[in-house]
Amino acid sequence: MTSVEMTKGAASHRVLVVGAGYVGLTSAVCFAHLGHDVVCVEANPDRLAPLLEGRSPIHEPGLEELMAEGASSGRLQFAQGVAGTGMSGVEVALLAVGTPPDENGDPDLTQLAAAAREVSAHAVRDLVVVVKSTVPPGSCEAIELVCADAAPEGVRISVVSSPEFLRESRAVEDFLAPDRVVVGAADPEVAELVADLYPAGVPLVKTDRRGAELIKYAANAFLAVKISFANEVAALCESLGTEASTVLLGVGLDQRIGKDFLRPGPGYGGSCLPKDVSGFQALGRAMGTPTRVVAAAEEVNDEASRAALMKLEMGLGGVAGKLVALLGLAFKPGTDDSRDSPALRLAELLIASGARVRAYDPLARVDAFAGERTADAMEAIDGAEALVVATAWDEFSALSAEAVAERLGGRIVLDAAGALDLESWAEAGLVVYGIGRGAPVAFHPVVWPPLRWAHQRDSLALFQDDEVAAG
Ligand code: UGA
Repeated sequence: MTSVEMTKGAASHRVLVVGAGYVGLTSAVCFAHLGHDVVCVEANPDRLAPLLEGRSPIHEPGLEELMAEGASSGRLQFAQGVAGTGMSGVEVALLAVGTPPDENGDPDLTQLAAAAREVSAHAVRDLVVVVKSTVPPGSCEAIELVCADAAPEGVRISVVSSPEFLRESRAVEDFLAPDRVVVGAADPEVAELVADLYPAGVPLVKTDRRGAELIKYAANAFLAVKISFANEVAALCESLGTEASTVLLGVGLDQRIGKDFLRPGPGYGGSCLPKDVSGFQALGRAMGTPTRVVAAAEEVNDEASRAALMKLEMGLGGVAGKLVALLGLAFKPGTDDSRDSPALRLAELLIASGARVRAYDPLARVDAFAGERTADAMEAIDGAEALVVATAWDEFSALSAEAVAERLGGRIVLDAAGALDLESWAEAGLVVYGIGRGAPVAFHPVVWPPLRWAHQRDSLALFQDDEVAAG
């Protein structure tokens, strides 16, 4: 039975971490900070090279500081392969390699199976393999078979699911002070050992492996549902001429609902939510259990960038041939990651509709971008016919509306990310469209049916108090 208790944070272990992406590197660095002895293995030489020089290949606040701490304490090392890392004392191996979607949208577990095989083949004593990567329920059991096949005679490998819930741009903070730790294991002693790796005093959910694997999918799918719901409420607010931020605050302050992840915008993106939303649905199809709520959330998300484009089309009278300044390419502020970025989706839609896009982002790494990129925001804005803010970076919120009004060729501003103070921008003479607020709206007659009904009942008594009270 599932039980909830607190982590004890008791023991210090020798830990091997395979994969130095957001999850693997953050886990390795934070485990060393917590007092474990950690070797982090990264096969990609481009990613490994900066790590060996003490630099992080990803932008993540606080990470390099903790890397330096790990290097000076001697508790954190990096290597290219498991061979030669000295597995003799290693009791726990964490697998945090990528599980990208294949051509059907199902997660490709090839890298995970290869990592499981590699650590098992080098094990010299019984080993606990912890799967941190997001995988469909049932995967850990399958991985255990791969491990058993690769392990030397007499060595027992137990595979445990312990998904990670950290957010990019707050990875260290989320790792060291998580809302919960989830451990899914077949053996209670093994579950205990894994739970003891984490910081003390965190609510611990112990369950079976399929349960732990499903918790990760269901959590990300629910976050996507909240965001898409917020986007639907925002669209209603625009039609009604009211403020989505206040409406959603009024909704979210109900503790049963919660105010986080109710921020409307150009849709959710990144390397996790979109992938896990499709993975959750694939799981439902495979089990014959439809996941209709999540399917609807995905549909709303697919519409979000088109809805933003429509606003700009309306404001500009068509975007074809227009020069549009785009501020933001990263999938959210605080990260250099632009995988499945809503800002990029919007840029692509603009370009496909014939606009010329000149973009600026302070950090985003973008492999292929069909628009132009500038070195600062004002350079992108200079002479453009419209401005779109697509990622809510602080530096965009801090822009002076007057300075922008002076440099922008046209007057139209679309704040698709909810980054600007629309009133002061309007005061500077700009025509600003927001998401769920500030759009120049007409009071659409759709809100009047109750009065029409009253009128049909008794046209003379239309606004009489007793009639309203009788409702
Ligand atoms: C997400 C989850 O939040 C983490 O808990 C999880 O561990 C991680 O995926 C993962 O599976 O590894 P992340 O992808 O880093 O983390 O980013 P989020 O902060 O969740 O943002 C996802 C997207 O939703 C972004 O595009 C963001 O702008 C958008 N968002 C977020 C909104 O549009 N509205 C909101 O209110 C919140």
